[in-house]
Amino acid sequence: MNILEFIKKSPKTELHLHIEGTLEPEQMFTLAKRNNIEIPFKNINDVKKAYNFSNLESFLKIYYEGAKVLIKEQDFFDLTWAYALKCKEDNIVHAEIFFDPQTHTDRGINFDIVINGIYKALQKAEKEFGLSFKIIMCFLRHLDEESGFKILDQAFVHKDKIYGVGLDSSEAGNPPSKFEKLFKKAAENNFITVAHAGEEGPPEYIWEALNLLNVKRIDHGVQCLKDEKLVEELSKSQIPLTVCPLSNIKLQVFNKLENHNLWKMLDKKLMVTVNSDDPAYFGGYLNKNLIEVQAALNLSKDEVKTLLVNSFKSSFLSEEKKKEWISKILSINSLLSI
Ligand code: HPA
Ligand code: ZN
Repeated sequence: MNILEFIKKSPKTELHLHIEGTLEPEQMFTLAKRNNIEIPFKNINDVKKAYNFSNLESFLKIYYEGAKVLIKEQDFFDLTWAYALKCKEDNIVHAEIFFDPQTHTDRGINFDIVINGIYKALQKAEKEFGLSFKIIMCFLRHLDEESGFKILDQAFVHKDKIYGVGLDSSEAGNPPSKFEKLFKKAAENNFITVAHAGEEGPPEYIWEALNLLNVKRIDHGVQCLKDEKLVEELSKSQIPLTVCPLSNIKLQVFNKLENHNLWKMLDKKLMVTVNSDDPAYFGGYLNKNLIEVQAALNLSKDEVKTLLVNSFKSSFLSEEKKKEWISKILSINSLLSI
């Protein structure tokens, strides 16, 4: 078995995936038609041409535009079900999925419609092919904390479906400290906390996410290498970093995959994982991220194994489940040299 087969056959978990970012152009057109929504694209080629981003901000503009076709519970169900089928294809056995309720409630869509559509599709996937999952609700950091409190209030009745809270959207100028009180309230109400930090923003934002928001994971975190003390801290604490290689190239965080710093993070023994972020916009789901980054950085089979094992270790699965999946990876890995 070669590395490519190992990546495809190994059970995997995805820890950084925005469900709105799985909206494929074809589905965008289907839903636009079904809901009678105007979109600023004439055809699918037109959409694909627009996916040329210069940074996070230029992507978010199109991403929020695309989300406008999601109106009914069935739309959120169909979107999530399509992603669940991708999980099956990529052999992802556990997914921890972000959703952005404010993107929808600010357009007049009811919170219940959003969460119920997503949850029902994931339940069906769990029942039909054993995909386990957690749902993480992200606050949009370009909005104010007050808006975050309002959405948190609405999440309480869905505590059985929502495992944790996160922080996403425009990073520059919106530091984690802006949401310290909000995250405190979420934690007091037993939501685990994660946050995007150090995607484009400075190491200081990663420190704030750790110290002020008490996060269990940092989403992205690739800017951490600019701060030696931070690297030391991340290495000691083994706080996971959910790195998204294809996203980082599409948003020009690195100019090409060969220059990605993932290998350095591995070298420094950080708890790094590979994820797909917004695969419909960034050109690939989890396997493609792993396959391309392995090739570009010439990662060894041991490094690939570490990445896959790290993802299970970094997940919110029970210790028992983590052990079970990791031993499966190791037994497949032992066939690698054959
Ligand atoms: N960063 C910040 N916000 C986001 C992202 C991202 O990569 N994807 C969707 N919302
Ligand atoms: Zn993200």
